[in-house]
Amino acid sequence: MIIGPNLFPLVLSRLHRWTMGHSVTFFDNDFAGRIAQKQTQTARAVTDVATEFVNVVAFALASILGSAAFLVGIDGWGAVAMLLWLVSYFFLIRFFLPKIRAYSAKRASARATVTGQVVDTITNIKTVKLFAHSEYEDRAALGAMMGFRERALDFGRISTWFRFSLMFVAGALPVVLIGGTFMLWREGQATAGDIAAAGAIAMRLSQMTGWVSMALMGVWGSIGEVEDGMATLSPAHSLTDAPDAEVLGRVAGRVDFDQVSFAYGRAAGGIDAVDLHIAPGEKIGIVGASGAGKSTLVALLLRLYDVEKGAILIDGKDLRAVTQESLRRNIAMVTQETAMFNRSARENILYGRPDASEDEMIAAAKAAEAHDFILGLEDHMGRKGYDAHLGERGVKLSGGQRQRVALARAFLKDAPILVLDEATSALDSEVEAQVQDALLRVMRGKTVLAIAHRLSTIAELDRIIVLEAGHIVEQGSHAELLAAEGTYARYWNRQSGGFLGTEDPEAEEAAE
Ligand SMILES: Nc1ncnc2c1ncn2[C@@H]1O[C@H](COP(=O)(O)OP(=O)(O)OP(=O)(O)O)[C@@H](O)[C@H]1O
Ligand SMILES: [Mg+2]
Repeated sequence: MIIGPNLFPLVLSRLHRWTMGHSVTFFDNDFAGRIAQKQTQTARAVTDVATEFVNVVAFALASILGSAAFLVGIDGWGAVAMLLWLVSYFFLIRFFLPKIRAYSAKRASARATVTGQVVDTITNIKTVKLFAHSEYEDRAALGAMMGFRERALDFGRISTWFRFSLMFVAGALPVVLIGGTFMLWREGQATAGDIAAAGAIAMRLSQMTGWVSMALMGVWGSIGEVEDGMATLSPAHSLTDAPDAEVLGRVAGRVDFDQVSFAYGRAAGGIDAVDLHIAPGEKIGIVGASGAGKSTLVALLLRLYDVEKGAILIDGKDLRAVTQESLRRNIAMVTQETAMFNRSARENILYGRPDASEDEMIAAAKAAEAHDFILGLEDHMGRKGYDAHLGERGVKLSGGQRQRVALARAFLKDAPILVLDEATSALDSEVEAQVQDALLRVMRGKTVLAIAHRLSTIAELDRIIVLEAGHIVEQGSHAELLAAEGTYARYWNRQSGGFLGTEDPEAEEAAE
């Protein structure tokens, strides 16, 4: 009662905190379900080890010491026999428990893989249904489950041998002790009472040891699960604050990319030798083909990954020399895949600045053109407006609504550097034009990096850079780039052509 309910949350909360400290790469490379499963599995196994150990050790030691004392009282040889028996019992355990631990670790790992697979399917349930691939998913899950079954059978095999050997050894004890006392009695060296006492102790001990060994099997099995969980979760964080990291105050907003290369640990891809210097308050538009490295560039600015070559500086300070928290406090970002928490609209917006007042929160929502549709929200529990929950990853909102909540969140954060990765791509032109006005207001005095495929949204920014396969191939103002008749001009002409008279009056005007 004291250990279990307290230890489990204690261990789980620490594990969870540690897991959250891992770099984005850690999560990129694993299944969410598998990680979650390993957290709970490890916390539960640690709790089991502790409670079982307290139970078994206290109980077993008392029983064994007590029995030995009685046996010495009856007859020294009996105690010797028991000692010999205990030694063989000990060796049996020594032989089996490490194996049980190893097989249990493998079984736990296979179990976590099943969870990973199942959660991956459930998370993508819409895609599964759209492509009518239930059977395919079933097979994928079954594959993982078969893996688990194999590992569970391995574990079952070793634990069966363990129990079989133990029963054999445990069964020998009463035979030796009762038989031995019987022999002594025949020679007149023991009484009938001694036989009865030795019998009772032997029976008790052999039952006890059966129970103890089952418990030990559980403990070692749990240790195996802990080891498996730790192997995944506990490696040192790969992206950490330097020991002497400075806390970055509110910055002026100067950003320097010095010969920055990064390719997600591969030989090529990502971005290569990018040199980009942004003055405080300057507004930069970033354009380029899909996969050119635009999102990668801004992810590096937020230090979601460490640069492989070169350095990024904010106000002249290397990102690696300041704490990650203080760095990210200085940057408000709307990401390309805007994901929401399955919490209320209010909580999702306040995520930008939890201590903001209700009025500030609503003002941000209004600026992002989110206020009106939020007032109309209602979730399955009947919560309305700002209290309505948005569904996992925000699935209960349309793509454009999700983007507006994300914008509101970024507006509320009011950081000196604003990063927009396709932040208005899902909005219809009318709403986009309104949000664009709000954006211009919010951008005032801030350093801005805005990525966009729809060029009209960034044409008015101070400088536009064009990325191609990780390199900056052109930069300059909209007019300069058009005059240069390079990649940007080509993009522009194609887009304004495409949008002429259809949906984008601004692009049309500019193209004329
Ligand atoms: N987490 C990741 N791990 C490994 N490689 C990645 C990762 N994210 C992106 N990449 C690769 O890095 C390259 C650049 O991707 P990035 O997301 O920066 O492109 P982008 O310019 O933002 O494209 P888009 O316009 O489609 O958003 C691509 O080749 C992509 O496959
Ligand atoms: Mg991108």
